[in-house]
Amino acid sequence: MTHEIAVIPGDGIGQEVTPAAVEVLEAIETVDFEFVEGDAGDAVKAETGTALPEATAALAADADATLFGAAGETAADVILPLRQVVGSFANVRPAVAYPALDAVQPDTDLVFIRENTEGVYKGIESEITDGVTTCTRVITEEASEKIAEFGFDYARQNGFDDVTIAHKANVMQKTDGLFLETAERVGADLDAEYDTALMDALAMHLVMHPEDYGVVVCPNLAGDMLSDLAAGLVGGLGLLPSANVGEENALFEPVHGSAPDIAGEGIANPSAMVLSAAMLLDHLGYDEEGDRVREAVETVLDEGPRTPDLGGDGSTEEVTAAILDAL
Ligand code: NAI
Ligand code: MG
Repeated sequence: MTHEIAVIPGDGIGQEVTPAAVEVLEAIETVDFEFVEGDAGDAVKAETGTALPEATAALAADADATLFGAAGETAADVILPLRQVVGSFANVRPAVAYPALDAVQPDTDLVFIRENTEGVYKGIESEITDGVTTCTRVITEEASEKIAEFGFDYARQNGFDDVTIAHKANVMQKTDGLFLETAERVGADLDAEYDTALMDALAMHLVMHPEDYGVVVCPNLAGDMLSDLAAGLVGGLGLLPSANVGEENALFEPVHGSAPDIAGEGIANPSAMVLSAAMLLDHLGYDEEGDRVREAVETVLDEGPRTPDLGGDGSTEEVTAAILDAL
């Protein structure tokens, strides 16, 4: 079986790290891929007036999965519609501290399961009068149930004992009340162990004792912020992958952006992008292959070469070659 993968490198270092992920996938001899490449981002907008050409959106819609690098200033115009195109309801963001690196909290092994379609990111904002604005927060039982089921399922499949449901239902009684009640019902129906946590206090506990947590199921905004906080605990955007998972389709991207400050220098860390490709392998059912890729990245983090963001003087190409060797 051949899997068709849409590849959208985008802008800046997206152009430099995306080929590394494609090379790694090509090196997995047990899986057949066919890659189809599309343009998106600032450069294509400057040329054509649109940051996400219809042809590129169609590639992502039709492919078995999509690899996306990063966009620059047009990031929101690219990634938000792309997430919709693949029908993504869950944003999966692991934050793992690698022993080889000096993480702020070396025992961090967290996965944020962030609701990806509603909450305050629904985009319903109004200016009531001069100086008064509002934002409508949408929480539905359907989306809450889906994200909770996904989170519990993810925890079980990936060997996590701890599931935490993040909320602020004491203040947002209707919206987070529904989110919490729904997620707790899903947990009870599955006979699963879980805790609930007020998201503000959780932020503090994550900084001080990340080792007490595993899978964290969150409404949209909370998941965005808590996962970035955890990124800080493990040190460095160059290491963090993510998945946008839908019913049938999914898109994989590093958490970082186009990094204009280093773009074109050939020194971007390809690890986050390669780890995103490992998540793509997991998603297609190739867990063993996904583990192999993660082990190869870890070997290179341990033994070098390293890119400058991790204190080394290796290039993107040298690190990619070492990951391919380790595979
Ligand atoms: P950024 O993630 O591009 O860069 C932040 C800092 O981290 C920079 O100093 C950069 O050099 C470093 N960095 C990031 N990834 C790295 C890697 N793989 N290797 C080594 N160093 C790395 O975020 P920033 O600076 O806030 O945004 C730059 C542009 O990227 C903006 O135009 C923004 O809109 C866009 N962006 C796009 C995203 C996306 O496409 N999903 C996400 C975040 C930002
Ligand atoms: Mg964010």
